[in-house]
Amino acid sequence: AGRLDRALAAFRAGGPVLVHDFDDREGETDLVYPAGSVAPADVARMRNDAGGLICVAVSDAVADAVGLPFLADRIDHPAAASHDLGYDDRSSFSLPVNHRDTFTGITDDDRARTITELASMAAAVEGGVDYDPEAFAAEFRAPGHVHVLRGAPNGLDDRLGHTELGLAMAAETDQPPAVVVCEMLDDETGAALSPAAAREYADRHGFPYVEGEELIEALR
Ligand code: 5RP
Ligand code: ZN
Ligand code: CA
Ligand code: ZN
Repeated sequence: AGRLDRALAAFRAGGPVLVHDFDDREGETDLVYPAGSVAPADVARMRNDAGGLICVAVSDAVADAVGLPFLADRIDHPAAASHDLGYDDRSSFSLPVNHRDTFTGITDDDRARTITELASMAAAVEGGVDYDPEAFAAEFRAPGHVHVLRGAPNGLDDRLGHTELGLAMAAETDQPPAVVVCEMLDDETGAALSPAAAREYADRHGFPYVEGEELIEALR
């Protein structure tokens, strides 16, 4: 099997897969997992080895069903008035949340709990369960310590972020539309980890590494 098939097989089995977007976009490599497969040790890997922000991307349809907005649309503050990113038209941030059965929400156990419960919620919505904003609020509180990202309505046809790349991998592997992403940073420089160093990390741990370009060719 080719590199992409091996990556999708690993993702189907719980991940992680390293995904570099594009040199002319963020130029970042994220560790990406199906949200339902994340255990506390995976949260530890993300904060120790990746070092970026731990986020759960959910599809537009799931976010819409449970009333998770784009944060920028709802913040009534001048900081949110103009959205001038250097690498995209808009961010995909929605609310940061904690599952209500967590304590502080930041520990590895707490974040893994929030992440897997978000996956269950997404699976329920996908499966046709009536899951409205009140049902979401019965299970999750905001603000919290896991950043929810909302996928673009038409996925990779609308936006080429890790948000949409990850959700496309979930769809391709028949998993619920809830995917964890976390940027890999360089411990020496603090900059985005270079693709060469990310590939070296992937090889060392037996994880697949793929380029956004390969994913959009196969999955768009
Ligand atoms: C949240 C981010 C990351 O880049 C993450 O990959 C999601 O964003 P995007 O879809 O724009 O790539 O900024 O930590
Ligand atoms: Zn980013
Ligand atoms: Ca580190
Ligand atoms: Zn990204």
